[in-house]
Amino acid sequence: MRSPAPARQVRGRVVLAVGLPGSGKSTWFARRGLHPLSTDLLRLLLDDENGQSQQSHVFGALYGLLRRRLAIGRRLTWVDATNLEPSQRRNFLQMAQEMGYCADAVYFDVPLEVCLERNAARNRCVPLEVMRDFARRLRPPDYSEGYRKIFLVQPNGTLRRLGKK
Ligand code: UTP
Ligand code: MG
Repeated sequence: MRSPAPARQVRGRVVLAVGLPGSGKSTWFARRGLHPLSTDLLRLLLDDENGQSQQSHVFGALYGLLRRRLAIGRRLTWVDATNLEPSQRRNFLQMAQEMGYCADAVYFDVPLEVCLERNAARNRCVPLEVMRDFARRLRPPDYSEGYRKIFLVQPNGTLRRLGKK
């Protein structure tokens, strides 16, 4: 009798940040000395830091960079973007899985009021109506989307793993 085929080895993981503007994603990465693929950075390079007019190029560059990192076998890639809705996260999950990686999510569950306060206090200020629209669209990451693990960022910055329901 033939033994069962060995499970395909996962090459590494892609970790998606999920959170409103002002929820502290980029601050969290910076405090940990991590260098994520970042829409903030790509916007700065391709548009300007407040720009929303080059979204397709910003995301095209982000997907391109991710594809190359996965192709060369980088075992861990962080993605710093708002990633508010499953439809926005699907491309990342699909690319990761097609290339032999798993995907995790890190959810910045920060009340809208706190995000609004922080947003108003910083140089790069997302308009209030955009913030409210984003808050309406936000859907926390869910295991049904295909993540291996989902983490919640706690107030002290540590990660707590969410169990599957
Ligand atoms: P970030 O710039 O880190 O937010 O913090 P973000 O989630 O990445 O936002 P987007 O999506 O790029 O727009 C926003 C502001 O909140 C402060 C930071 O110093 C920054 O000015 N902040 C962040 C805090 O005051 N406390 C925190 O724990 C985190
Ligand atoms: Mg940011």
